[in-house]
Amino acid sequence: MTKRKVGIIGAGAVGATAAYSLSMMGTCGEIVLFDIAEGVAKGKAIDIGQSTHYAPNSTIITAAETPADVSECDIVVITAGVPRKGDMTREDLLMINAKIMKSVVEDVMQYSPDAVIICVSNPLDVMTYVIGQMTGWERNRIIGLSGALDGARMAYQIYKKLGFGAGQIGTLVIGDHGQNMIPLPQEVQVGSVDVAELLSKEEMEEIIERTKNGGAEIVRHLGTSGYYAPGRAIAYMVEAILNDSKVVVACSALLEGEYGYSDVAVGVPVVLGKNGMEQIIEIALDDETKAKFKTSVESIQSGIEVLRNNQFFN
Ligand code: APR
Repeated sequence: MTKRKVGIIGAGAVGATAAYSLSMMGTCGEIVLFDIAEGVAKGKAIDIGQSTHYAPNSTIITAAETPADVSECDIVVITAGVPRKGDMTREDLLMINAKIMKSVVEDVMQYSPDAVIICVSNPLDVMTYVIGQMTGWERNRIIGLSGALDGARMAYQIYKKLGFGAGQIGTLVIGDHGQNMIPLPQEVQVGSVDVAELLSKEEMEEIIERTKNGGAEIVRHLGTSGYYAPGRAIAYMVEAILNDSKVVVACSALLEGEYGYSDVAVGVPVVLGKNGMEQIIEIALDDETKAKFKTSVESIQSGIEVLRNNQFFN
């Protein structure tokens, strides 16, 4: 990846924050922003561009006038869509965002045919599946932001409870990026210490609940979804791909028999490197977690079914 060029389609709160985070890390050679709302990409590209004066490495930040200007990207991040507001469910967004996704993906296929796509638009797992269906690309080039964000939210709750271990808290959240997400306390370590040595079962249950409601809690205070943690989590995934880091992180991925499922995208631990999602890691799930995973997959499948019933894929 010589160009290290990243396209961000949807320069709203999350897209722009991802661009800012990436430019402060100096990860990319060029970031190109596109937004359907006039002036948004241009204004933010100028603002972020001016901030790079104090960044460790220079990044060129440009605004695309048309989708055709988001060309030859190594990675395209798609945040285009309508954000979840108030008590709107993720499923309410389904048809609106699926239609937006369809038109965006057509452009990506035409102008950045070799890119890895990182899907951010909600409902996340269904939109990731839509990208898989629309593109027909090898699945390693299609991933969705889920566990990287939900895992960070879980680590935040653990740190708040413990008061130590920041940056050393390994978490794993699998399943859908919604109400049925599955934070896995049995996989959590602080340093190399099993979290069960540090927190009681009750404390962990509270942390799981707060992780699952991590997004909604922000909406309650702010009236809109969060964007700093999503933006940083996107940047983390982009860095892993551009730097070929081979990090293990949970992402929404298209399953082909792993965990017993196919024809669905759902959050599982994967290896991220220069080819995108290079490997799905299958961990052993106990019976209780298997049942939760089934519920999670079924909730995603019901979203896909809504699209099918509306002839979306025809
Ligand atoms: N092409 C390009 N940009 C688009 C399109 C499109 N077809 N449709 C909408 N957009 C843009 C909007 O103009 C807006 O600037 O997408 C941007 C979305 O940004 P915000 O409304 O600020 O939403 P944000 O909080 O950034 O969330 C982005 O992440 O969590 C998900 O569901 C959420 O889909 C949403 C996405």
